[in-house]
Amino acid sequence: MCSDSYVTDVPYTSAFAPALAPTELTVSCALAGVLPPRVERPFRYLDLGCGHATSLTVFAAAMPYAEFWGVDFMPEHIAAAEAVRKQAGLQNLHLVCADLRTLAADALPEMDFVVLHGLYSWVSESVRAAALGLAAQSLREGGLVYVSYNAWPGWCALAPLRDMMLTFTKGMPGTTLERAQKAVEYLHFMRKFGAAYFEMSPAAAELVDQLVTRDLHYVVHEYFNPHWAFFRFAEVKAHGESFGLHYVGSSPAYLNRDDLVLSVPMQALVERWRGEAPRELLVDAATHETFRQDLFVKGTPVTVEPCEWLGQGHIGTHLVRPRLGAPVRLRSRELTWSTPLYEALFEHVSRRSLDPSEWDEALGSLASTSEQEAALTRALLGGQVTRFVGATNAAAQLEAKPTGRFRLALWLNCWFLETQLWTRPAVLVVAQPLGTAFVLPFRVALVLAG
Ligand SMILES: C[S@@+](CC[C@H](N)C(=O)[O-])C[C@H]1O[C@@H](n2cnc3c(N)ncnc32)[C@H](O)[C@@H]1O
Repeated sequence: MCSDSYVTDVPYTSAFAPALAPTELTVSCALAGVLPPRVERPFRYLDLGCGHATSLTVFAAAMPYAEFWGVDFMPEHIAAAEAVRKQAGLQNLHLVCADLRTLAADALPEMDFVVLHGLYSWVSESVRAAALGLAAQSLREGGLVYVSYNAWPGWCALAPLRDMMLTFTKGMPGTTLERAQKAVEYLHFMRKFGAAYFEMSPAAAELVDQLVTRDLHYVVHEYFNPHWAFFRFAEVKAHGESFGLHYVGSSPAYLNRDDLVLSVPMQALVERWRGEAPRELLVDAATHETFRQDLFVKGTPVTVEPCEWLGQGHIGTHLVRPRLGAPVRLRSRELTWSTPLYEALFEHVSRRSLDPSEWDEALGSLASTSEQEAALTRALLGGQVTRFVGATNAAAQLEAKPTGRFRLALWLNCWFLETQLWTRPAVLVVAQPLGTAFVLPFRVALVLAG
């Protein structure tokens, strides 16, 4: 069953999307050379089509000084999110049950960030336009918009899968969940019994293997929406521009760096298309992109020198050895950290976060200022360090129990531990210094669960 634009008889899954963290968005924006909104002081953030608002709930707990707003038109999504919000005592989270096509922008306060995650490719043209219109109207000048969507060319080879799922199950009685189950079975059957399509398109074969293991609620919302579509970057960029939203870069931040996503000959080729559609087309082809996460700024983007921006905040990490300093794969490139400079950096940040005034003391004997900045940027792009927003003491997340053991301080963290330890692949922990959550190593989760 569908509203005229969206499948509504089955609720979506609830999942945390780390890419939506305000801190992540600002890093991608600043490293692309555009000044982002500030996140270490009060700001407002809006999620359009927020589903169960899991990410919003995490951010509201992690950044109690900021305001978070979520809008979704499925009452069961908002009701579930509201129940968690109440129990977590999050006064800074506001959930609105409304259709984006009829919601007036003046029902919302002025925003610094607006995100459309899992919305653009899955709704009708009128909802896409309404969402970008709301984003543009509610944002302040210089505010940041994030839009994720299924992308060209990755989906060109995969789109027939969705066609087959809908065609095989058309007119079948039952719920969309039951149709999704049947559709996955049909695809699996074809793959197993040698349909040549899967031999010619290994990515499609891989996707079917994944689909068999996916939650069917996800399958329904990903594939059964009537207006499902994938887009070229240039189309989404032009759509944003028609609302006064200007493309500034993509997330994750390393995608904006030619040296990290393109071979040397391709880097020379894109030189003449810096920041323009052909560069993105080439990157999407080079990485065989299926899912883009683009950032737009309202009004004229203000440029910033990335290193200058980096030098305005604390740098820290939530990683512990051996993960801190382990090689990191970014698409086709592997980043390694085996120089004394990275050793020294990781040694320092594994103890506590570094204030910019301390960089030189910590690293000055090993490298010049520009080498330190380059190393910090690379460590940030490779996810080894991050910009902290708050208290630098990770122990603030723990409370001593009378038994001498520790427990997690925030209600939300205790709830994650209780509900995710045995039912989810990972347990999340909200960390206020990071302004977001990270995955707790399983052994640590077990100890904390006591
Ligand atoms: C694929 S889900 C993504 C949910 C969430 N952003 C996430 O990533 O987990 C898309 C969401 O958009 C909501 N949605 C679709 N059309 C809408 C509309 N016209 N107005 C408000 N919400 C809408 C759906 O109810 C659904 O929760």
